[in-house]
Amino acid sequence: MLTLALSKGRIFEETLPLLRAAGIEVTEDPEKSRKLILATTRPDVRVVIVRASDVPTYVQYGGADLGVTGLDTLIEHSADWGRGSGLYQPLDLRIARCRVSVAVRSDFDYASAVRQGSRLKVATKYVNIAREFFAAKGVHVDMIKLYGSMELAPLTGLADAIVDLVSTGNTLKANHLVEVERIMDISSRLVVNQAALKLKQSAIRSVIDAFSSAIAQD
Ligand code: PRP
Repeated sequence: MLTLALSKGRIFEETLPLLRAAGIEVTEDPEKSRKLILATTRPDVRVVIVRASDVPTYVQYGGADLGVTGLDTLIEHSADWGRGSGLYQPLDLRIARCRVSVAVRSDFDYASAVRQGSRLKVATKYVNIAREFFAAKGVHVDMIKLYGSMELAPLTGLADAIVDLVSTGNTLKANHLVEVERIMDISSRLVVNQAALKLKQSAIRSVIDAFSSAIAQD
């Protein structure tokens, strides 16, 4: 049995065509069911639905053989749990593309604050990415860890800036925030449990090969 960990939403939707290319159809819709284990048309393949930030954990510790996770989540996971430990990252799937950026209120003069060496209050879910970025710039920051709705932090005075994912930019615009720095481009990655890769080599290899030829045709 092969177990693939996915999170609901964009990653799930954008992984479906890749699975199809590997001859795997998920037979249940996670948006319409409370089930956490989904069957597929292949009796030897199942999908488990976990929180996006839990995908690397499931794969690293063998709760799933494979998973699809954003580079943002992977970097944060590696910083917290140790780089490369048990996780093989064979493919950039080039799906769920977005970027990690710094955003502030439109009336906050970020450039002056940085120039003057002010200490910035930064709210984010991506503490490791943000810390490394501001350290490299030589900007002193007080990091405030949040788990969601980062956009609210500058609006309520909790923080001067946020570090968050930006895709269309609509969420920032709707909340009168502006993007002032692009930290990195993000896409989703295939991650594989290293022990599973040895034990279930041919099954996993065939998924990796089908995914990579589906991406190449894009
Ligand atoms: C992300 C991110 C922003 C939004 C940006 O949230 O945190 O809120 O998408 O997208 P946009 O630029 O197209 O408006 P997501 O919906 O992934 O949920 P989250 O808040 O759980 O991270």
